[in-house]
Amino acid sequence: MTPDLFGDLDAPPLPATQPLAPGAVLLRGFARPDERALLAGVDEVLARAPLRHLITPGGFRMSVAMSNCGRLGWVSDRSGYRYDANDPDSGRPWPAMPAVFLELAGAAARRSGFEGFAPDACLINRYEPGTRLSLHQDRDEGNYDWPIVSVSLGLPAVFLFGGPKRSDKAQRVPLAHGDVVVWGGPSRLHYHGVLPVKEGVHPSTGACRINLTFRRAS
Ligand code: SIN
Ligand code: FE2
Repeated sequence: MTPDLFGDLDAPPLPATQPLAPGAVLLRGFARPDERALLAGVDEVLARAPLRHLITPGGFRMSVAMSNCGRLGWVSDRSGYRYDANDPDSGRPWPAMPAVFLELAGAAARRSGFEGFAPDACLINRYEPGTRLSLHQDRDEGNYDWPIVSVSLGLPAVFLFGGPKRSDKAQRVPLAHGDVVVWGGPSRLHYHGVLPVKEGVHPSTGACRINLTFRRAS
């Protein structure tokens, strides 16, 4: 019996849908039915656009390893943050978004009240134990009309979800394999981040957390 399953016996079940703020919701386990297809998609994308540690405009190497799929990919270098149609490492367009990615992102957005979400960018983040993502806003997109859809796979993490100001108190939201967070509308520009991922090994991903972030970048 796995510790997970054992814990479920006496803990009251957590609600499948948990509001975080107006326009923001945690969909627990929403991606679980698609986990194998999603991870196969991640492998396909990464075979063509390998993970890399980007350099921030300030010259620091990001500890989260990143890649992208879709028409546009998020990149960072000494000249700034931007979306680019080409992978700067290969000079080629980013791999297409696997169909299961598009379907899942659209379904999660719909479930959260955002009908018609058609992301053109999917950022793939890999967190090894000890890796964190400091509080930031997602504001490199051309418009803020569409939500962010964020899918967690593998090792658990604590997601920080704050408010419109960096100094606003952030909620600590534990995220497990298959959880999806959607934030848009009034919380589209809320600060968010990820606490350092704890040591561990997950049966689906090994010793890492994979996050897929879907956005409408143009
Ligand atoms: C992000 O903010 O880009 C990713 C958030 C996460 O990994 O959960
Ligand atoms: Fe973000």
